[in-house]
Amino acid sequence: MCGIIGVIQEKGEVAPFIHQALRRLEYRGYDSVGITTLDTSRLFTKKDKGKIDEVHQMLNLDDLPGSIGIGHTRWATHGIPSMYNSHPHFDCNDEIAVVHNGVIDNFLELREDLIKKGHTFKSETDTEILPHLIEDFMNDGRSLKEALKMTTSLIEGTYAVVVMSTREPDKMVATRDGNPLVIGRQDKTSYVSSDIPAFLPVTNNMILLLDGELATLTIDGIDIEKLHNGQKVARETIKISWTADQAQKGGFPHFMLKEIHEQPDAIKGTLRLRPEIIEGAAKLISNADNLFFLAMGTSGHAAVAGKHMFASLGGVLPIVELASDFQDSVYDVITENDLVLAITQSGETTDTIMAAKYAKRLGARIVAVTNVVGSSITRLADHTIITQAGPEIGVAATKTFMVQLTSLAQLALALGELTAHQDPEIIAIKRSALEKMPKIVSRVIATEEEHARHYARLYYASPSMLFLGRGISIATACEGALKLKEIAYNHAEGYSAGESKHGPIALVQDNYPVIFVAPNDETRTRLIGNIMEMKARGASIVSVLEEGDGEIQSLSDSVFSIPRGVEPEFSVMPYIVPLQLFSYYMATLKGYDPDKPRNLAKSVTVL
Ligand code: G6P
Repeated sequence: MCGIIGVIQEKGEVAPFIHQALRRLEYRGYDSVGITTLDTSRLFTKKDKGKIDEVHQMLNLDDLPGSIGIGHTRWATHGIPSMYNSHPHFDCNDEIAVVHNGVIDNFLELREDLIKKGHTFKSETDTEILPHLIEDFMNDGRSLKEALKMTTSLIEGTYAVVVMSTREPDKMVATRDGNPLVIGRQDKTSYVSSDIPAFLPVTNNMILLLDGELATLTIDGIDIEKLHNGQKVARETIKISWTADQAQKGGFPHFMLKEIHEQPDAIKGTLRLRPEIIEGAAKLISNADNLFFLAMGTSGHAAVAGKHMFASLGGVLPIVELASDFQDSVYDVITENDLVLAITQSGETTDTIMAAKYAKRLGARIVAVTNVVGSSITRLADHTIITQAGPEIGVAATKTFMVQLTSLAQLALALGELTAHQDPEIIAIKRSALEKMPKIVSRVIATEEEHARHYARLYYASPSMLFLGRGISIATACEGALKLKEIAYNHAEGYSAGESKHGPIALVQDNYPVIFVAPNDETRTRLIGNIMEMKARGASIVSVLEEGDGEIQSLSDSVFSIPRGVEPEFSVMPYIVPLQLFSYYMATLKGYDPDKPRNLAKSVTVL
């Protein structure tokens, strides 16, 4: 949520790089954008509301002088998207520029104090207090670094900030608490950013900045120190396997479509994880008294599917909770014998991080499933599984969902081996079925994309739809509905088919679309009953069914077919694919950009 970037290079203009870096960070927010550069003791700024390409068209973001600069792409919290609320923000004399990701909780009182002291504010943002506080401390004779340190001692909330000033034009300083910052270094250039894709075209070596640390960036290098005592920090460089190409559209019209197509490779990569990583997590889980799955959004749907996998294969029944509501639901009834499995592709979702921190405080162990090396959740966790989706840029999660499911399936199998809940032969059969999943998903993409495009045209004008399933397919139904809501802005509800009779069925009238997720598992007969109920009320039935399921096909107006023989525990993986494609084509048909859905951001770092 909000993307920030700072670059300091030896010579040449830095604005074009910052502009491109912001495009790579745009998934973090796209209400407004801004760049400030520093040249010959002056700051130069272009900023406005709108997506980067729109603002660039109006202002030409490349046309700014200077070889040091900062940039920001915003997801609005305090203040509407407007030119004045766009970052960077400045002190009274336009000598100090700040970009910020996060929320300063006590900004109102600090702002009042500053106004009393004579500072003038131009925006409604919480961020703007930062340059003014820094200004005061610098006016008292402190260096930029010291002024930032003093400022952090006054503010409460979460932040990642990057600051530069005409008073010390040879550097920029950055610090964080609760929001991510990574540092890059290549050829007399230093980079600091919210996320790796920003500087991936120049380097895939990154240095993590941790909470409570401050980095000073110059053309000669990077210094990291602890905020509270100034102690130097020696931090090793981490090489990540992501490539710049992975963060490009590669011929696809949108990242989302590319990422849907990348799913078979993402599963393959995740299946190749070292066995001890999965086994280590399974051991911790098998020793726990209570097991909680905590996640948000799409990751929450992976958690629901994971619950079925764990119960069926491992004989362990996890408690699935929305991370945002965990603390309010468990009333401290957690002990050191419990374990939290935190599922978060970004590793930065504040709700999930806060819930994991809370459980940790009560003594629980934490296992994380995340797609981002070095993300916040990895530092909280006792054990981490890094899924191998590569960078996901589309805001609506697709391939990261697929790899979460893959890892949960691997974990459930490993757990099954440990607990001997299932016969080893059954586990071996399931394991080999999971190995075949990349091929199956690949085939579904190949055969169902055209159907998805076609059904999008058929159902394009329907304002509302139901997605129903039973058992593990409730996860598929909910995820299918979420995708449609997120990117095509249709009202869509994912529901248990069993529960649908207790309310949602009231919505159904002639031609109302109801999408049934209908794998050939033990729920099938009961699901057919639900299809009949909806059909009797005039619904238009779309089924995602097993190839050759003539009975459900005859009850359906439209079908997506999934190859036979998918193990029930893994059915979400292929069955979600047509629904991802359907949402994609619904969104594009309506003229929406599926990569940047309205009001959403990929990494939600507010509570
Ligand atoms: C946001 C994104 C979703 C994602 C959710 C949880 O809402 O738009 O795609 O599923 O956050 O994110 P996480 O990084 O924790 O998986």
